[in-house]
Amino acid sequence: MAYETILVETRGRVGLITLNRPKALNALNSKVLEEVVAAAEAFDENAKVGAIVITGSEKAFAAGADIKEMQPKTYIEAYMEDFFADWERLTRIRKPVIAAVAGYALGGGCELAMMCDFILAADNAKFGQPEITLGVMPGMGGSQRLTRFVGKSKAMEMCLTGRMMDALEAERSGLVSRVVPAGELIEEALKVAGKIAEFSLPAVMMVKETVNRSYEMTLAEGLRFERRVFHSMFALADQKEGMAAFTEKRSAQFRNR
Ligand code: HXC
Repeated sequence: MAYETILVETRGRVGLITLNRPKALNALNSKVLEEVVAAAEAFDENAKVGAIVITGSEKAFAAGADIKEMQPKTYIEAYMEDFFADWERLTRIRKPVIAAVAGYALGGGCELAMMCDFILAADNAKFGQPEITLGVMPGMGGSQRLTRFVGKSKAMEMCLTGRMMDALEAERSGLVSRVVPAGELIEEALKVAGKIAEFSLPAVMMVKETVNRSYEMTLAEGLRFERRVFHSMFALADQKEGMAAFTEKRSAQFRNR
């Protein structure tokens, strides 16, 4: 498929999606939504891909939803088309999705990064929910996911003031897993994704599903869910291989089943 707003490639077993609207700082319009979701779903179905990386440019991961596209929208249009609800399809991707964020991740850009399974940040990354400065509020999960990541006080301050958080504050607050020098971001993201993609794919997918359940369940239910999934892993050929390889002091050759 030919894409207009993103670049799509595979590097080994990693699917790489690069937002590519440099003149608009990768602002997220309807086309970007359609294309990112389609590319991610195609990678999810591609047996040769084990993990996905979403990134932008060194200046901007994405500076938010496209304000120029949104400006003339009426309430009835936004409601009837369920404006931007389709971004939720990204959260139904079953393989790991890593956001590699450099530069601005604002509004919908920050929300897109938070839809991914974890965020690797460049040291120049800036995160924020500036919607209040436009007379609106987060609409792609910012009020909910940011609060779960960084806690109520910081999320409330960021959503109410539009203040940006730099990479170190984002790491300290639990928004990002790690900060790396901007020039090494893509290489590091591909390395991490490549490592994940070498493991047993069913095991990786079960880990993702189970960690994500912790946002939806009580602790007791989550622990039971974890244990049941763990039990089911003894049906995997890859469990037999992984444990045999350990005892035989060799590296495992996972067959993804
Ligand atoms: C449309 C955008 C844009 C955006 C930047 N541009 N952000 N276009 N939507 N979100 C465009 C600018 O209009 C400009 O185009 C070009 O990109 C370069 O931007 P500059 O502002 O000239 O760059 P700079 O001075 O470096 O400032 C960078 C910036 C600023 C601080 C990131 O661009 C900015 O504040 N952008 C808006 C950030 C924002 O408010 N995001 C939240 C959007 S609401 P021209 O043609 O003039 O050169 C949102 C809601 C999500 O995300 C919920 C949806 C359901």
